[in-house]
Amino acid sequence: MIKSSNISYKIRQVFFDFFQKNSHKVVSSSNLVPKDDPTLLFTNAGMVQFKSWFTGEDSPKYKNVVSIQKCLRAGGKHNDLENVGFTSRHHTFFEMLGNFSFGGYFKEQAIIYAWDFLSKELSLDKKKLIITVYNKDLDSQKIWKKITGFTDNQILKISSDDNFWSMGDIGPCGPCSEIFYDNGEKLSGSLPGSKNQDGERFVEIWNLVFMEYEKKNGKLIQLPVQCVDTGMGLERITAVLSKKTNNFDTDLFNYLFSQIEKTTGVRKNQKILSSFRIISDHIRAITFLMSEGILPSNEGRGYVLRRIIRRALMHVYKISPGKLILNQLVKSISEKYSEVYYELLKSSSFIEKNLENEERKFSETLEIGMNLLNEEIIRLKGKSFSPDIAFKLYDTFGFPVDMTKSILSEKNIFLDLKAYEKIVLENKQKQKDSWVGVNNLQEKKILLDLKSSAKKTSFMGYKFTSYKSKLKCIISDNSEKKSVPPNSGNLILVFDSTPFYAESGGQVGDSGVLKSVEDKIICKILNTKKIDGDIFLHFCDQTNLSLGLGKDYILEVNTGRREKIRNNHSATHLLHESLRQVVGEHVSQKGSLVNERKLRFDYTSNQALSEDQIFQVEDLVNNSIRSNLKTEIKIMPVKKAIESGAIALFGEKYPEKVRVVSMVSPRKSKIISSTELCGGTHVQNTGQIGFFKILADFSISSGVRRVEAITGKELEKYINKKLEILTKVKNIFKATDDNLLECITTFKNEHASLKKNKNKPNQVFLKEKIVKLKDLEIYCHELSCSPKELKNYSDTIKKSLGSGIIIIFVRQKEKISIVVSVTEDLEKKYNSVKILKDILSFLGGSGGGGRNDLAQGGAKYSKKVNEIENFIKKSINY
Ligand code: SER
Repeated sequence: MIKSSNISYKIRQVFFDFFQKNSHKVVSSSNLVPKDDPTLLFTNAGMVQFKSWFTGEDSPKYKNVVSIQKCLRAGGKHNDLENVGFTSRHHTFFEMLGNFSFGGYFKEQAIIYAWDFLSKELSLDKKKLIITVYNKDLDSQKIWKKITGFTDNQILKISSDDNFWSMGDIGPCGPCSEIFYDNGEKLSGSLPGSKNQDGERFVEIWNLVFMEYEKKNGKLIQLPVQCVDTGMGLERITAVLSKKTNNFDTDLFNYLFSQIEKTTGVRKNQKILSSFRIISDHIRAITFLMSEGILPSNEGRGYVLRRIIRRALMHVYKISPGKLILNQLVKSISEKYSEVYYELLKSSSFIEKNLENEERKFSETLEIGMNLLNEEIIRLKGKSFSPDIAFKLYDTFGFPVDMTKSILSEKNIFLDLKAYEKIVLENKQKQKDSWVGVNNLQEKKILLDLKSSAKKTSFMGYKFTSYKSKLKCIISDNSEKKSVPPNSGNLILVFDSTPFYAESGGQVGDSGVLKSVEDKIICKILNTKKIDGDIFLHFCDQTNLSLGLGKDYILEVNTGRREKIRNNHSATHLLHESLRQVVGEHVSQKGSLVNERKLRFDYTSNQALSEDQIFQVEDLVNNSIRSNLKTEIKIMPVKKAIESGAIALFGEKYPEKVRVVSMVSPRKSKIISSTELCGGTHVQNTGQIGFFKILADFSISSGVRRVEAITGKELEKYINKKLEILTKVKNIFKATDDNLLECITTFKNEHASLKKNKNKPNQVFLKEKIVKLKDLEIYCHELSCSPKELKNYSDTIKKSLGSGIIIIFVRQKEKISIVVSVTEDLEKKYNSVKILKDILSFLGGSGGGGRNDLAQGGAKYSKKVNEIENFIKKSINY
């Protein structure tokens, strides 16, 4: 019998020990976000990660396994969200202890294990246990009787779905046998299968599923082998062993209650007890979801997370309005669980920061929504609240309906939940439609076949860029071939080993050539990808020679390209660490792309990098490059790697042993050290990267930004191109480095003023520029426009002047252009050409010409320009 203040921790150990002793392999929990399974929103049971082992799509790695799985039931078929806080045993997040067999043992052994574990290892009182079996499963009933000596009163036959477990609308399923614990008469509720079975008295603690079928297209198909899938909620068994009748009264929650009291300053009491429970349940779900990199959003998984956060916040509001305490609870969860789920160690600050943002955002709408709710209550005529408004509160302000309902029932106001549900249903399609990814994950049948027939490819590319390998599979025209003749195209080839890196971890696949052992080029390898089980696919173009299975070939990677990719990948690691140092530890990678031209790094942040931050990040990376840090690669247990400070990606399930890439600087300041879990190819020394520059930082979705950068030779090309453009610009302006900016500024100003004048030609005519000589009027004015425009302006001025002589000029650098014109009535008396020539010679120039009424010419600039008016006054002959 377990006696400890940390009972849950002890149960985990005892469970693993028991099944390990009985030849089960311990498999660590998979993520809450199921890998490659678009049919499921979240992992909702221990069996999820083994789905393809049950169905036979993949062959099981082990016959018998034991696991403790992180689960979330807050969306999809198994959804407990609305129950949480109001029952003693429902949770959104929980852990499921489970033993599994894939063709090893079946009903009898599964029942023996369960019985021995409960009655011997945990020493539960047998009299307190009740068993249920599926009414058609007489075998199980017999086995239970034989093993326990129980009577029919203790082994109940159930006909409902409760004893036929299925994962969802599709997937493995089968009859199940459940073990219940009797919490005693003082609690309400009666035997499983009876009308009042949902009471608190009988708690289901363990479910043994005898997987025999797969649900597909509405039919039940026999599985290739009979399997066992069991699940026991850690929270429930912890309550039983803690002698509590409510899961929330155990070590898995009580530390959170004290934390809520501390942060709100309000002590737990009966009135707000369910709020305490809801908050402590939800914050666990929030923390675990966010530790896998999920952020609140308006669709799919992010939407479920957002709902959980909002529901929690509503209850914080109930305890202490205006307090944003959720983010302050994250740390205690990390501390409680990090020994079991090491991913929490690294993600705390990321979770805290992003959760605080979400809390802040929602608290504003919460206030508005609460006001709306209160106004509605005041306006209410009868005692019934509009379901439409309840939906609006939910949809627009994110108010969970149970919260609205509980506020209303405190005031004795009725809300028709049925009518509300109808409105929700009508709107649900919207959410469904936003769920993505079903179609594009359907792999081609040929690749599925390959998954089961081909063996793992050995990757030799960390050491070699050229390697002799045996051809194992040829796919041409969507079918497998034994050989192909010359001139075959569009091939996919699989070898027993390869130096070609296959696209993964953001790094693109290698390209290169395939050669015969006699060194003759056969074809280009255009790209490399891999499918589950590490089978490397080489995509080839037209062959020069024939190919045959079982023969040796030389695979040669394009090393120039590989080097550039390698440089960019190592630079990405340095960039990641620099961003963490400059922006903050909460920066977390959301994706990356590393190819031969550039690198792209997506990270969580709500703010654009300032110019200064970009400079700081570049400076850190370039300092590390110039320090020529040595890259060290180690293979080590994942837990140890994370504990030693290596950066891991949230949401990635790593194998037990991981590859750790570090570039470590002996100096602390101005140079960064990077240590990351990574399978990519890297430089030997950071100096090989050469040089690093950020080209862009922009937002790609809410809370996620993207940095694009280049390195080495590409950066050299980029800079040369920029310099070339600069030289061209200098030539156009006939400027030097020193005065280019000034030239451009002058040009820009002149251009702006030209544009201004062009748009306002009337302003060209200024009355004060008219000189009166007896009955003759002379208009003399220096304009700022282009010389070409002088004629047009002179026409405009003519119209305004009516009668007279117009002399307008413009100065451009060292030149002056002049237009002289005479209105029609004076043409007989004055000649534009003559006047122009006189002016030009006065200025020290010559030339010019035109007609009587309009003449145009130019001269070198001279200060005499300012005296033109006087000159004319004196010289004009009237
Ligand atoms: N899959 C079953 C359940 O979730 C047993 O693990 O209850």
